[in-house]
Amino acid sequence: MLVTGNEILKKAHKEYYGVGAFNFVNYEMLSAIFEAANEANSPIIVQASEGAIKYLGIDMAVGMVKILSKKYPHIPVALHLDHGTTFESCKAAVDAGFTSVMIDASHHPFEENLSETSKVVKMAHAKGVSVEAELGRLMGIEDNISVSEKDAVLVNPKEAEQFVKESGVDFLAPAIGTSHGAFKFKGEPKLDFERLQEVKRLTNIPLVLHGASAIPDYVKDSFLSSGGDLKGSKGVPFSFLQESIKGGINKVNTDTDLRIAFIAEVRKVANDDNTQFDLRKFFTPGKEAIKKLIIERMNILGSSNKI
Ligand code: G3H
Ligand code: 13P
Ligand code: ZN
Repeated sequence: MLVTGNEILKKAHKEYYGVGAFNFVNYEMLSAIFEAANEANSPIIVQASEGAIKYLGIDMAVGMVKILSKKYPHIPVALHLDHGTTFESCKAAVDAGFTSVMIDASHHPFEENLSETSKVVKMAHAKGVSVEAELGRLMGIEDNISVSEKDAVLVNPKEAEQFVKESGVDFLAPAIGTSHGAFKFKGEPKLDFERLQEVKRLTNIPLVLHGASAIPDYVKDSFLSSGGDLKGSKGVPFSFLQESIKGGINKVNTDTDLRIAFIAEVRKVANDDNTQFDLRKFFTPGKEAIKKLIIERMNILGSSNKI
């Protein structure tokens, strides 16, 4: 059943577990997410970036989610706009049938982020749609980073408190040291869990971890053995994902892991049989790899059997 992000995340917030927010750009990724949710008995958030919407068409993105949520009526699913950059983009998503949107004005000064987010909250809440915003900049932190350098890029808990109170946003993504993509940490992985706990204490709403792909060894090995190159890649360790859930994270954004797992399988088929040109022979193993990874992630985040 298609529900708001709030409906899914309020329960996760109350019961201290994380829900995977998985990006999709095609039917194979989306159906893998639904099939995984069905097997693990887990709620899901499926999210499309502005790029994914441009690639698919907004009505196709919404249409596929509606069809799959009718096929699996017992699964609570929210359709979320990932990193909406403008009010107009968020409004277009709300009008098209998204049940949750992110306005990412985090690169603007605090006051501008606050006023842009407040505008989106007013528009979205009038239609019963939930809103996510972000504070701080998404980037890895080094071991030898100074306190002032850290304060300059990561979320400020006091600002988070004010931001949530004044904007009325439903969930917040605080920058605590993660970044997007496959190259998250130069040295040892490091996140600011104390800062996270302080944000949770002061805001008491569901929090979101962006850049949460783990790049598990077996996924990396599969990509490398297919002939891919991932030199220097590093994800967020599973133990960190669990630690961040203890610290108040309830929405765990995952895209890169799905991309790597899918493409490794596609490349293997291409390597194994250079006469093959049936698309289904490439995409079916890709989809199965994603599905397996997502079920594993649901178990780690604690969302399995939460329906
Ligand atoms: O946070 C970004 C997501 O991984 C989506 O990336 O803009 O390439 O679709 P994209
Ligand atoms: P990853 O690149 O770690 O998968 O993060 C995805 C994300 O944050 C989408 O908003
Ligand atoms: Zn993100």
